Amino acid sequence: MRLSHLLSLALAACASAQSLMDVLAANQGNLSTLSTLLQTVPDVVQALSTAQNVTILAPSNDAFARLMARNPRSSELTRNPRLLTGVLQYHVLVGRVPASDFSATPRFPPTLLDTPFANVTGGQRVQLTLVNNTAMVFSGYKQAAMVVTADVAFSGGVIHIIDNVLTVPANPAQTAINTGLTSLAGALTTAQLADGINSLTDITIFAPSNDAFEAIGSAVGALSQQTLANILAYHVLSNQIQFSTSLIAAGNPATFMTAQGTNITIRRENGALFVNSARVLIPDILTTNGVVHVIDNVLNPSNATVAPDTGAATQAPAFAGVTSVINSPFTTGIVPASTFVPANVPLNAGAASTVSMATLLIAGGAALLAARL
Ligand SMILES: *[C@@H]1O[C@H](CO)[C@@H](O)[C@H](O)[C@H]1NC(C)=O
Ligand SMILES: *[C@@H]1O[C@H](CO)[C@@H](O)[C@H](O)[C@H]1NC(C)=O
Ligand SMILES: *[C@@H]1O[C@H](CO)[C@@H](O)[C@H](O)[C@H]1NC(C)=O
Ligand SMILES: *[C@@H]1O[C@H](CO)[C@@H](O)[C@H](O)[C@H]1NC(C)=O
Ligand SMILES: *[C@@H]1O[C@H](CO)[C@@H](O)[C@H](O)[C@H]1NC(C)=O
Ligand SMILES: *[C@@H]1O[C@H](CO)[C@@H](O)[C@H](O)[C@H]1NC(C)=O
Repeated sequence: MRLSHLLSLALAACASAQSLMDVLAANQGNLSTLSTLLQTVPDVVQALSTAQNVTILAPSNDAFARLMARNPRSSELTRNPRLLTGVLQYHVLVGRVPASDFSATPRFPPTLLDTPFANVTGGQRVQLTLVNNTAMVFSGYKQAAMVVTADVAFSGGVIHIIDNVLTVPANPAQTAINTGLTSLAGALTTAQLADGINSLTDITIFAPSNDAFEAIGSAVGALSQQTLANILAYHVLSNQIQFSTSLIAAGNPATFMTAQGTNITIRRENGALFVNSARVLIPDILTTNGVVHVIDNVLNPSNATVAPDTGAATQAPAFAGVTSVINSPFTTGIVPASTFVPANVPLNAGAASTVSMATLLIAGGAALLAARL
């Protein structure tokens, strides 16, 4: 076939792809709320209409109705173009991700949401995972959205219609307070670390559950602010976002240098992931500046060689001679603004991940988009 013929075929294919407006018009039954909102942000429409190789996660009418019912303040989206632009940016993935690219191994592609709403290099992330053969998207507080209509082609890439509006990730302190990690939130405040951690870029936090703090309860009252800060810094990796997939892929065991200066050891045993002797209970809760993994033990920088008893349901505390208390330590005055229950998605820790991020990083018109939005 002659080159000129190939080129004309390619052009014909492009011309036949529906524009964003065509797709919205053809799906008014599910996308009329999104269409109405888009009318208030013409710059976003313009950018999306000229985009290349993006994936739009388009909330359905039901999704917006659910958001309004859950949080009446979300009606501000209709009056605040800057807020709406940020929320919509979080619904546009850099790269074309058809539904066939979702798998049981999560992937974390970047979105167009960036500073000032996120401090994640390359753009804030979402989690895409195939759960029970359903394509799912997880956003801030690990809130779930389901793809209800997949692979609607448009001129700039592909659109998936989803059943919930994505939640823009909150900072680590808010994330801890609003997901029931109130002991950690209070400990960060007591150690005067909360503001510092919230303002970092690209971090990983291992977040002990309230039960974990209760298990060392007899010791916490005697900790000086400096000792507490030292212990908490041992739960943070700075300048690196390590999702569960990269922790699993790092080798078994693998060591990581913490912000405290001492290493932690990550192990994978019987489909579970351990940090020193602590088990990862909930992986991959996205925050403004990285990711939080909930763990079942408080880590002790003076006990870095402790290994898990992988057969046991719970681990012995990593602090010598402690006894548990009934009330969660550090929670006085820590009041959730709203409560989010992170989704419980089984950790796919059976084998090292082979999923490559490379296909997701094809930037296409993203630079243009980022400049326009
Ligand atoms: C909305 O999408 C669902 C799932 O694809 C489809 O079954 C339904 O017909 C659509 N509703 C309208 C009113 O278009
Ligand atoms: C997946 O299916 C299993 C078995 O039917 C069920 O227990 C589990 O809740 C489902 N997971 C999700 C996230 O829906
Ligand atoms: C991002 O980091 C800057 C600088 O540390 C900070 O001022 C800002 O509040 C952070 N943004 C968010 C959304 O947390
Ligand atoms: C700490 O972890 C880093 C990163 O894996 C590694 O390069 C270093 O050798 C480790 N240090 C010790 C003392 O194990
Ligand atoms: C380290 O942890 C082990 C097991 O949890 C515990 O028995 C031991 O007392 C701890 N050592 C120190 C120095 O805290
Ligand atoms: C879009 O993706 C295709 C396939 O990966 C690639 O060939 C093309 O160059 C990309 N277009 C832009 C504008 O990046």
